[in-house]
Order: sequence, then structure tokens, then C-alpha cells
Amino acid sequence: MTKARVVPEEQIRRQMDFIDFIGHMNRDKTEKNGEKCKAFTHTYGCQQNEADTQKIAGMLRDMGYEMTEDAKQADVIVLNTCAVRENAENRVLGNVGALAHLKKQKPGLTIALCGCMVQQEHMAEKVKKSYPQVDLVFGTHALWRFPELLYRTLTGDRRVFDISGDAEGEIAEGLPVLRDGKAHAWLSIMYGCNNFCTYCIVPYVRGRERSRRPEAIEAELRELVAAGYRDITLLGQNVNSYGKDLDLEIDFSDLLRRLNGVEGDFLLRFMTSHPKDASHKLFDTMAQCGKVAKQLHLPFQSGSDTVLRRMNRGYTAEQYQALIAYARSRMPGLVVSSDIIVGFPGETAEDFEGTLRVVRDTGFDMLYTFQYSKRSGTPAADYDDPTPQAEKQARFERLLALQDQCAEPRMLAYQGKRLRVLVDGESRHAEYPYTARTDGNLLVYCAGERLKVGEFADIVIEKAALRSLYGRQQEA
Ligand code: SAH
Ligand code: SF4
Ligand code: F3S
Repeated sequence: MTKARVVPEEQIRRQMDFIDFIGHMNRDKTEKNGEKCKAFTHTYGCQQNEADTQKIAGMLRDMGYEMTEDAKQADVIVLNTCAVRENAENRVLGNVGALAHLKKQKPGLTIALCGCMVQQEHMAEKVKKSYPQVDLVFGTHALWRFPELLYRTLTGDRRVFDISGDAEGEIAEGLPVLRDGKAHAWLSIMYGCNNFCTYCIVPYVRGRERSRRPEAIEAELRELVAAGYRDITLLGQNVNSYGKDLDLEIDFSDLLRRLNGVEGDFLLRFMTSHPKDASHKLFDTMAQCGKVAKQLHLPFQSGSDTVLRRMNRGYTAEQYQALIAYARSRMPGLVVSSDIIVGFPGETAEDFEGTLRVVRDTGFDMLYTFQYSKRSGTPAADYDDPTPQAEKQARFERLLALQDQCAEPRMLAYQGKRLRVLVDGESRHAEYPYTARTDGNLLVYCAGERLKVGEFADIVIEKAALRSLYGRQQEA
């Protein structure tokens, strides 16, 4: 038994009944109007949120909605929101503001907001007060009850707000999913976060860490592989603590090994790992498992031990670099990426030099860099923050320039190399009409007459840019 509550089957079935009720309503409408009801979804934020939106889209599809990419055509609009930085929230609110106009033209339109931003009470209140065009608001914990909440919204005469739910969190199995794309799929292995990094809102809006049972994960992987997905990313805020809440002797490395044993031609990726829990066992397992991509996203956030301590990260810069060195010793050619926060409260010029040093010494293939954003309710929101914004901006730009400088030779080194890639879509390049991903998840624009979306291909890299490669398929 997991400590987290698994939502009982009869409650999931009850939601399926609401899906049917709405389905009947939609069929009646379709007969009357001669047109199918349409739904539009949009996701802000991380991969977890994208995976959640795919569940919402799955439920909408089963209610008889046709998905549209044009919000103006939609009868139902669902925006799945993010709270990680202020600009993420501002983007959501800006877009919701703009929808007021559409709602006026089309009073029957239903606008729903869900996810991390509205899980925060003050944000749900703000939406209630200042955005009357929004009909339905539900938090991360209420996601599996979406059919019931939408039904109440469609049939009642009041707006519906539901951000209830236990912060301990629940696990809902058996919800429908509508995946986009043919090659790549997300596979959640756990939800929530227990780390409480002092800057971060995620633990407050996603609840405590809880792991899905390995047999449920394996069953979903088998379905994905059977459906033709070849590139599967295991998701969690901190996958390295997978299994700690289960009554089983299983950790993340054990899970990887088990999934690697599933038959079929596919690649397994995972994100995100936390350095404090990334072990040699994990890197040994990655090295030994043929289907596990040789790619590692390991955020270090800052190269200063003082800042790391104040962030509550639980490792030093030296320990971080030793981890990467070990991983590379086991997997030569490993593609490594990381997240960095610039301008954490109290970060000094010297602290920042520490960050630059780690970037220079480590050599990352890809960096995701962010300026610190104050999140109310987190400990760091109360820390002194004397550094002027202009100085933070200058640091940020220095970091970007350094990364470009470090990435260039790494990318150029791919020229002339032969690589196996997974073709995952069509591109806008006339000369290289397909997009593909390397084992390390680098983007490659590809040319070749026998290329097919959803299939692996051998290519030779002809050109390299800072963030992508260009390749041509080899004769068989
Ligand atoms: N669980 C993942 C990160 C999820 S959030 C991990 O710990 O690695 C993704 C990234 O957003 C973080 O790695 C961090 O770099 C950034 N981030 C989180 N909170 C932030 C804040 N308040 N301001 C700026 N960046 C932040
Ligand atoms: Fe946020 Fe830290 Fe949890 Fe990542 S590990 S989600 S940064 S609290
Ligand atoms: Fe944003 Fe929530 Fe992800 S806050 S980054 S969508 S977990």
C-alpha cells in the first residue's frame, strides 16, 4: 500500500458517468446545430502540466468534444496554469483578460482555469474577483474530478471554484489520456515534491511526493510501446526519490531496470533528477540499460555553497561536479543539461562567479537559466534582497553569453558524426524537412527520402548551430 490515497475505482467510475452525461448533452447540441462541440486547451509551465493537460484532453474527447487549435472556435476553453515564476502567472492572467472579449461575443462559451497557479488560494480569489469571464476554477488536486466539475458548470447557474484536496495528495489511475505527437510520450511515475527548496512554490501547489505502483507504470509503458511511441520520458519533480513512499523494496534505479526489460524498440528518458539523491547506482544502471537514453538533466541552481545552503538544496558545488564527473566516466558522450537561478536573494558578485565557474568547468550541452522570482508563501520571499535589478540582469546576460561560448565547440564537435535519431515531426526548413531527436535529446533538422515520423534513422551530421544540428540520412 502506498501512503498516498489511491482514488477508489468507484470514484473514477463516477467521473466516467459524468463524462457520459456531458457526452449526451453534446450529442443533442450537435444534432441541433449540425456541428460538433469543440474544446481548446493550453498548457503553461512544465512537462508535468503537459501530461495533466493530456488527461484533461482525454476526458474532453470522451465527452464528445473535437479538439481545436483555435480558441475562437471552442465551446470549452481549459487553460492549465503555472505558478513557478511571476512572469508565468502574468502570461496566464494576460491571456485570460483577453478572453473577456470572446466571452462577450459568445456567452455560451465555458472558460476553465486549472493547475498550479489557481491552486494558490490568493490566485483563486483574484480570479473570482477580477476575472468574471472565468466559469470554472479547479486546482491540481481536483484534476481527476474535472468531469463532475465541468458538468456542474454546464448545468448550474453559478461559477464553480474547487481548490480543495489533501496536500498529502492522491493518485488517480485509469483516466483517459489524449496524447499529441506520434513519437514522444510523457509517463508520470510520481507526483508532488517534498524538497521545499526555499524559492520554490511547487511543493505548495502539488502536494507531497507520492509514487505510482511499478506495475501501473510498466503497464502504461507497454501500452505506449504497443501504440508506437518510441521516445518516452518518465516524469517526476524528483525522480530519484521514487519509491520512498511505497511499501516495496524499489528505488528509481530498480524501476529503470525493470522498464528497460520491456520488449520493443524505444528510448527511456527521465526528468527531473535532484543532485542530492542522484546516486552512483543510478549512473551505473543508466550505463547498463540499453534503452535508457544517455542524457541527464541535473539542475544545480547555483555554484555558491552559501547560496545552495540558503536554497535548501542539500549539496555543494564540488559534490555536484563530482557527480557529473562520475556519470561521464560511466557514459562517455553523455548529454548533460541543467537549471540555474540568477539573483537569488543575497547572491553576491562572488557567489555568482561560483556559478560561472561551474558552467565553465562542467561544459553543459544545454542550460535553462532563470532570474529569481519571488513567490509569496515561500521562505525566500522573506529574505533580504539588496541586489538591484540592473545588476541581476547584467549577471543573467553574462551567464547566457558564457553558455553560448561553451556550447559552440560542443555542438561543432558533432559535425561529420554518424548518429541514430528518432524522427519526431516535420520542420519548416525546405532543405531539412524533418525534425528529429538524438539519444541525448538534441534537436536535429533532417533530410532523407526514407525518413518517417515515429521511426529511428541513421544520419550524418552536416552542420551545427548553437541549439540544433542538421543531418542527412545515410544510404542503407
Ligand atoms: N523539480 C525540479 C525543478 C522544477 S521547477 C528540480 O528541482 O530540479 C524548474 C526550474 O525552475 C527549477 O529548477 C528552477 O531553476 C526554476 N525555479 C523554480 N522556482 C523559481 C523561482 N522562484 N524563481 C526563478 N526560478 C525558479
Ligand atoms: Fe521545487 Fe526544489 Fe521541488 Fe524542484 S526539488 S520542485 S526546485 S522544491
Ligand atoms: Fe509550473 Fe506547476 Fe510545473 S508551478 S513548473 S506547472 S509543477
